[in-house]
Amino acid sequence: MHEQSVKVTIVGAGSVGVTTAYALLLSGLASEIVLLDIDQARAEGEAIDLSHAAHYAHAKVRVASSYADCAGSTIVIITAGVNQKPGQTRLDLVKTNYALFRTVVPEVARNAPDTILLVATNPVDVLTHAAFELSGFPVQRVIGSGTAMDTTRFRHELGKHYGVNPRNVHAVIIGEHGDSQIPVWSLASIAGMRLRDYCSQKGIAYDDAAMTEVARRTRGAAYEIIQRKGKTNYGVASVLVSIVEPIVKNSDAIVTVSRVGIYEGVGPVALSMPCKLNYRGAHQDVPLLLDAAEREGVKKSAQSILDVIVSAKG
Ligand code: LAC
Repeated sequence: MHEQSVKVTIVGAGSVGVTTAYALLLSGLASEIVLLDIDQARAEGEAIDLSHAAHYAHAKVRVASSYADCAGSTIVIITAGVNQKPGQTRLDLVKTNYALFRTVVPEVARNAPDTILLVATNPVDVLTHAAFELSGFPVQRVIGSGTAMDTTRFRHELGKHYGVNPRNVHAVIIGEHGDSQIPVWSLASIAGMRLRDYCSQKGIAYDDAAMTEVARRTRGAAYEIIQRKGKTNYGVASVLVSIVEPIVKNSDAIVTVSRVGIYEGVGPVALSMPCKLNYRGAHQDVPLLLDAAEREGVKKSAQSILDVIVSAKG
């Protein structure tokens, strides 16, 4: 049976871009992966290398010679731009990467007018907002990886603390993919029980200090990794593939991704909330029952992103 062809173009053949290409290749989700980078030689080298892995993964990998090669992409993943150096926040990157997006996004939109944009470049919320404005796409077709990365880390840390598989931890981080992110403690659960109920059922104390440490490690993970290896790539590459999957499979999975909206009366601005993902993009029809502190956190996060957007636009 001829499977529906799925073309994914990755703009940026840096470490996040090529790790994502490799993860996508092994996932079997794409039938064609195109690498596009300003450094043509690097993109060619990565594509040739990846094509030797493609031998075992049944996908074509090739390098773009221009933005015209974006045509027909189901999804265009944008990873191009500078990344954090030790001591930098994600927001420190905004001037350089916003300027880059002013060139990249209109070219992608012109050549792939029906695609879904998936932004990974940081600061991802600001740049998801920029991609929405610069592409002219409907809001649901412009998605940022956002706090899907932080949610993954949050579940990983909670799973480690309670000794359960992270897949059995339902807990989300919302807001900015950055320092103003909000852990939604009021809804965090294991095996369907809120954390405090889970603890009392197990006869263990709910440890506030430990939970504060979980949130700190979640929020600070990228800094810890960058301090040691100078970048992050594996976690975000897997998260990007986890966002591609429900779009390609039209599976209505709920993922915390960044999308433009109005949040607690602030906006339009892009930040992360649980969204339903399918072949038409990211849909914000997932109600979230937040407590007063969490809603205040969303308001603050939205405002801090909006302030950066205003300053980035000059
Ligand atoms: C990180 C980058 C993707 O959190 O912002 O690893």
